Formats: sequence, C-alpha cells, structure tokens
Amino acid sequence: VRTAAVIPAAGRGVRLGPGAPKALRALGGVPMLIHAVRAMAASRAVSLVIVVAPPDGTAEVKSLLDAHALPERTDFLVVPGGETRQESVRLGLDALPPEYGIVLVHDAARPLVPVDTVDAVIEAVREGAPAVVPALPLADTVKEVQPAAAPGEPEPVVATPDRARLRAVQTPQGFDRATLIQAHETVTDNVTDDASMVEQLGLPVVVVPGHEEAFKVTRPLDLVLAEAVLTRRRL
Ligand code: C5P
Repeated sequence: VRTAAVIPAAGRGVRLGPGAPKALRALGGVPMLIHAVRAMAASRAVSLVIVVAPPDGTAEVKSLLDAHALPERTDFLVVPGGETRQESVRLGLDALPPEYGIVLVHDAARPLVPVDTVDAVIEAVREGAPAVVPALPLADTVKEVQPAAAPGEPEPVVATPDRARLRAVQTPQGFDRATLIQAHETVTDNVTDDASMVEQLGLPVVVVPGHEEAFKVTRPLDLVLAEAVLTRRRL
C-alpha cells in the first residue's frame, strides 16, 4: 500500500509574533516547511508529499521545494489552503491520487519529528489501525477551567483530570485513506486534530510513542529550542 503525507502549512502563526507565515520562517537557515517535508520524505515508505500552502503563497512554496534538495523517490504537490487547519487538510486530501491507501497528516509546525516516529505511525496503520497518533505523557498537571466571562475576569477551575491518563498528541497522525476521507466528509465541528474526527465516527484510534523532538513550534521560545536541537544534530 502506498503512503502519502499531507502537510497543512497555511497558518499565519500569529502566536509566534509578527512576520512571514509560520511555515516559511527559517530554522537553521532553512524554512520550517522544508524541514517538515524532509522529515516526511525521510521515510522510505512515503512516496508523495502534498503541501497545503498559504493561498497567496503557492508559487513561493513551489519555488522553495524546487530550490531545496529533496529525495528523488518522493513526488510533491502544492495546493492552496483554507481558513482553518481542518479545511486546509481537506483541500490537501482533495488532491490525493487514488493509489494512496495510507495518509499521514503532519503539521509544518513540527519540523523536527524523527523518521523513526514517522515509520512507527505508518507501521501501525499497516497493521490495521484506522487511525494512529504519536503521543507523550504530560509533564504539567492540566486543569479544566470555566473560560473567563470577559477579558480580565477570573477563570475558575472546574476539574483536574488524572494526569496519568492524559497524553499530548503530535503529528504525523496516520490514517487508512477511506477512514480519513469519511471523517472529513462527516465531521463539521471545529477540531484541532484529525484523529478526533475519527473518534467521532466511533472508530478506534491507536497511540504509538511520540518523540520530544516532534514538539510544535508555536511560541518564540519554541524557535530557540528548535535551533538548539538542530545544532545538537549537527555536532
Ligand atoms: O495553528 P496551529 O499551530 O494549530 O497549526 C497547525 C498546522 O496547521 C500548521 O502547520 C499550520 O500552518 C496549519 N494550518 C493550515 N491552515 C490554517 C491554519 C493552520 O494549514 N488555516
């Protein structure tokens, strides 16, 4: 079964501060998106990468992919994204050729995920899981709060879920093609990951171990950490 990776990269990255769309910010002199594409193409199982670009940035993304050396065995497609991550993923799926039976969805904002994590996700789908997420235990205790009634108002704590049962999930998330397409056709509420749509269909989602280096680059401090990881890899 052939495997493709869809990379939603159409977000503005507002939390990272002012500047270019997040996926196009440099890490070690190379755009974050290029790291993410290389991380998917590093898996020998991945033969197509579909990049979902900012709608006004498809030409720029195409020329970036042309400019950076990527493995020859991997094909690339660039499509324009949408208003939400979910819409961007769906637009990427619309471009998926029929011969791909396994689909990874990977955030451009997780540029440093190791290939072993990518391969573990693919392997679990090959073994029959309709949906697979890499996940890690939490370091922090998590509280559920009642959102503030107005800015500046307090947020009372509602509950403290048992931390031992919580996991922070990462990407790439892996799917049986038909399951992911059905999930995107059926679930219309706003979600923050693809696996939750599969959960809403009532299908099982399997967890495999995530990796510290698959963290999401969201805030300025994450850029500092990502640069440090790259430097350590180059030593
Ligand atoms: O905003 P967040 O960090 O959750 O975004 C996760 C990923 O989804 C990023 O790679 C971002 O570029 C992508 N995204 C997208 N289209 C949007 C919003 C986010 O492709 N409209």
